[in-house]
Amino acid sequence: MNMNANALASSQTATKPVILTGDRPTGSLHIGHFVGSLRNRVSLQDSHQQFILLADLQALTDNMADPDKVTSNVTEVALDYLAVGIDPGKTRICLQSQLPALSEMAMLYLNLVTVARLERNPTIKEEIRARGFERDIPAGFLCYPVSQAADITGFRATVVPVGEDQLPMIEQTNEIVRRINRQTGRDVLPETTALLSKTGRLPGIDGKAKMSKSLGNAISLSASPDEIDKAVQQMYTDAGHLRVSDPGKVEGNVVFTYLDAFDPEVDEVATLKDHYRRGGLGDSMLKQRLSSILNEIIGPIRERRYELARDLGMVRDIVRDGTQSAQELTQATLDDIKCAFGLFRL
Ligand code: TRP
Repeated sequence: MNMNANALASSQTATKPVILTGDRPTGSLHIGHFVGSLRNRVSLQDSHQQFILLADLQALTDNMADPDKVTSNVTEVALDYLAVGIDPGKTRICLQSQLPALSEMAMLYLNLVTVARLERNPTIKEEIRARGFERDIPAGFLCYPVSQAADITGFRATVVPVGEDQLPMIEQTNEIVRRINRQTGRDVLPETTALLSKTGRLPGIDGKAKMSKSLGNAISLSASPDEIDKAVQQMYTDAGHLRVSDPGKVEGNVVFTYLDAFDPEVDEVATLKDHYRRGGLGDSMLKQRLSSILNEIIGPIRERRYELARDLGMVRDIVRDGTQSAQELTQATLDDIKCAFGLFRL
């Protein structure tokens, strides 16, 4: 790129709204992530200046006994991003633990939040229950919404594409932003907005609300054709639909939920649903259809991922470059905040 093109590119990105999203790198990503967030990120990267955070520090808040699980998955998740079409020329992929300004911001923000407020966060409440922490909650875990507020504001992100479970985090972030702006009498930080994905959370192949690698009900982004077929065969349909001629239920039928999420032929799916409800449409025909659609989507991702994995040095370089550019940005935000509070400068 010559100088002029460079200047042009930066003047264009300067006007684009900033997006920050992120994932905890605790395992490679699956098709639930793909419908819930990854495909959105691919389409948003042209119209926005997008940063994606590999939130390893956040992942450690409940994995400190097994840091290897987190560090070994940093590259896996970065590979998933690149394989689905995240373009490092448009989107910066950054590693949270290499951005010390974010931790410093979190340290300041902790003084603007009460423990009671943290305990009221519905997502945290649910996660504490699910993890069985009871009274032994790691302090870092309870406080991760504050660290996430630092992530979002550190990048001056005004758009955060998230699932519904992350809405309380956005709310807490904006409370902190308003508090800082009010107290310092300056517009130090912008408020941020959640961008909810249109498709809700994809259930696991067993129909359970959450698809997760650890529950064994996920389809990975590198699943082979055999693994895809096997997963689709196992999918829950309708226990009352014993013979092809029986009328079947569409609601709660995992195969239809997946067709809704992945099948581009919306009208055909509507016709299939009518037919299924009337009776006369067998599960196997639907499963074949779904299997071939999933193969078409996952096939190219799997192959690209395989190719990329042959050059992990390049993947690491991409994350290093992305992180370096984020270091400057987040440090500048931290300096602004310190200055607004009038912290001592030597
Ligand atoms: N909490 C998010 C999750 O569990 C991950 C995350 C960390 C994040 N920092 C973020 C998401 C900033 C959006 C913005 O998936």
